Amino acid sequence: MPDWLKDAVFYEIYPQTFCDSNGDGIGDIKGIESKLDYVMSLGCNAIWLNPVYDSPFMDAGYDVRDYYKVAERYGTNDDLKHLFETAHEKGIKILLDLVPGHTSDQNEWFLKSKRPEKNDYTGRYIWTDCVWEAPPQYRLLCGITDRDGNYMVNYFSSQPALNYGFNKITHPAWQKSPTDPDCVATVEALKDIMRYWLNMGCDGFRVDMADSLVKNEDGEKPETCKVWKNVRAMLDKEFPDAAIVSEWCNPKVSVGAGFHSDFYLDHDTNGYRILFRDKNWETGECKAVFGKNGKGDITKFLDEYLDDLKGTKGKGYISFITCNHDTPRMTRMFSELEAKIAYSFIFMMPGVPFLYYGDEIGMKYMEGLTSKEGGFSRTGTRTPMQWDSTANCGFSTADADKLYLPVDTGADAVTVEKAEADPDSILNTLRKVIAIRHENTDLQSDGDFEVIYAVKEKYPFIFKRGEFFIAVNPTEDVQKAPFAFDCNTVFEIGNHSREGSYLVMQPQTISLLRLEK
Ligand code: NOJ
Repeated sequence: MPDWLKDAVFYEIYPQTFCDSNGDGIGDIKGIESKLDYVMSLGCNAIWLNPVYDSPFMDAGYDVRDYYKVAERYGTNDDLKHLFETAHEKGIKILLDLVPGHTSDQNEWFLKSKRPEKNDYTGRYIWTDCVWEAPPQYRLLCGITDRDGNYMVNYFSSQPALNYGFNKITHPAWQKSPTDPDCVATVEALKDIMRYWLNMGCDGFRVDMADSLVKNEDGEKPETCKVWKNVRAMLDKEFPDAAIVSEWCNPKVSVGAGFHSDFYLDHDTNGYRILFRDKNWETGECKAVFGKNGKGDITKFLDEYLDDLKGTKGKGYISFITCNHDTPRMTRMFSELEAKIAYSFIFMMPGVPFLYYGDEIGMKYMEGLTSKEGGFSRTGTRTPMQWDSTANCGFSTADADKLYLPVDTGADAVTVEKAEADPDSILNTLRKVIAIRHENTDLQSDGDFEVIYAVKEKYPFIFKRGEFFIAVNPTEDVQKAPFAFDCNTVFEIGNHSREGSYLVMQPQTISLLRLEK
């Protein structure tokens, strides 16, 4: 386990829209480098960088054309190396984004794989054995290559699935076992890509759709897990300080497979959605636990979380995110104050937390944008970072109509400059919370988590972490709970008081308390 994860606080950077150093309207690596001091000022000591590889950008870079080359629009491999070096001088780690499940259909591997004659890449992707073979349960693209067969896609149609084999083989003529030499070669190719960037200085990877490798497997996905155990064994031997964080959203399984941490994501009806994102957009009804109308149920979240926490204890972590590039920013459903309380809570939780660029200033989800590079409804979460009051909010010196995406320049648009000047801004609040986290191991990744008060459909909820208590009342009403501990207040949004053996939480309050010695 890389030691640095014990106190890691990540900042996710979407390279397209973070900082444009050369005035071409799109963010770049030198721009990111120029903002490392800002990242440090937040208390973030690690970065997750979304894909920066060469790509036709049908899915914003998650369609990799060349795994070994930085996309020209972001700079060069040397620029990236320099970014790693500068970041390390400042004590910042950098995870690249690894896309193991698919490539672009313009990747050299695929261009060779789709040739009719047999070659080294014939088996690198999943192909049926003839073009008339197209079982509808598989996502196949048919009849569009000279090769006599159809190929499977992993996400969008431009992203053919790499071949890691099948667990349940239903069509033996073309479905391979994960131990087939072609599938083994795919895993080895993946490890080589990882080695290349790790040798250049990156500190590990966020792994895209980590659960999507071996096909036809449900539940705990044992064959996909075997691939990751193999990868992890390589890392432990060759790069013991490198970290891998999975997009899987099933921490017990993914950590068991070798990931150091796994994201809680905005999926279906899971615990993360229950906490922060449970809103019916048609009726406007919000049932998120952190919503101010108080309709959430913390016990539904805890049912899932406590089990995951137990299952990962001592082996790896759960990563809470403020948001990511795939999901609407919380400010779409929450007021600034609701978001501030929710974000503060995230940085008081165990595991390795992630802050999505712009959330620290309360950037909005921009409604009504035309899709960009396969963003669709995600596009509004990917707009340029708002730095200051100069043109394009300081993101770029290009003309506004040349920007990758429009920047929010409304009169009420938040910027880092404005947020810096306001002691109560989300920015200054999170700086305090993150600083307190760094000062106290009880509040870091490995610190304990114990439920003190969490009752179905009631507020507040109170948790204990070592000598700290976190009490939260996100609602607009005063809420009370039995609480028998003598404490000092370490940090607070809103305020609380004591009434005999009760803790009385004023509306929209989060309190971090420490046991009196
Ligand atoms: C998950 C990534 O976060 C998302 O942005 C991408 O579109 C898909 N995986 C496909 O790679």
